[in-house]
Amino acid sequence: MTGTCLPEIGLDPSLKAEIDSLAVTFATVDAAEAVALRSDIGAPLKTSRRWLTFCDIARSTIEQRGYIVIRGLTPDEGRSLLILGSAFGGPFDTYKPGRIVKRFRMSPWTTELSHTTRTGDFHTDGNVSETPPIWTAIQCECEDPGAPEYAEQRVAFLPQVLARLASGNPADGEALTLLTEEVVALAHERNTATWRGLLVQNGTIRYHPHSLRVADSRLRVGRPNLDSIIATIHRASVDVSLPFHTRPGDTVLVSNLTALHFRGACSVRFTRFPSEFESRSLYVLHVKGSGA
Ligand SMILES: [Fe+2]
Repeated sequence: MTGTCLPEIGLDPSLKAEIDSLAVTFATVDAAEAVALRSDIGAPLKTSRRWLTFCDIARSTIEQRGYIVIRGLTPDEGRSLLILGSAFGGPFDTYKPGRIVKRFRMSPWTTELSHTTRTGDFHTDGNVSETPPIWTAIQCECEDPGAPEYAEQRVAFLPQVLARLASGNPADGEALTLLTEEVVALAHERNTATWRGLLVQNGTIRYHPHSLRVADSRLRVGRPNLDSIIATIHRASVDVSLPFHTRPGDTVLVSNLTALHFRGACSVRFTRFPSEFESRSLYVLHVKGSGA
């Protein structure tokens, strides 16, 4: 059920050179973001047969598998990630005015989900939003110092998760019911936003165990089997996904509507305890919707 192999491609060196040539025209990532918000940052590549072929492969692979891993880029503060993100043809999401690319660095001194070193959950991004982003793009800047033992990544494709739960035991059936038939709430821990509805509908999913737990607590639902259902969905997602790692520049393009993404526990290597350490860092951006 996992597919025969990881959906990955090595970037053609000539296409990489074309992307790099475009990326260096932006003095800063801020300048690249400004262009990406007012126009198609990838427009200069529209005459490149290699680029158009790459876009076709990326989009069709994500449609069939939920994600694609692209090897061979160079981390450049988000410039090449913005160019790759333009392959989706939709507008970029902003997390504050004018800003698209977020940088995360794992830290042993935080409990924030996006940069804690603790094991993450299979989830979608922006799950409490009225309209979650359609695609997520993640580029490795620095590899985890403990890789490959640490920072394992996985993506579980929704049709495979649902099929796995549908063919399992009663506990799997209970998890499938929660996902597909029960109106539940998701809530954000740092604001009052709450979303209610079916987690899976029309072939799409919004899901985050933490958002389910926050809503369950805030709304005083006290569902007794919530943790066991979350654990069941996690096991099913592991069963249908493949482990992989990314090196600097490697980029994961993933559907935020038809796939759950995950990363395992991360490590740090202290160079001067407690404030200086080496750890995994990455760039992330979101695309809101399909363009013309
Ligand atoms: Fe995420």
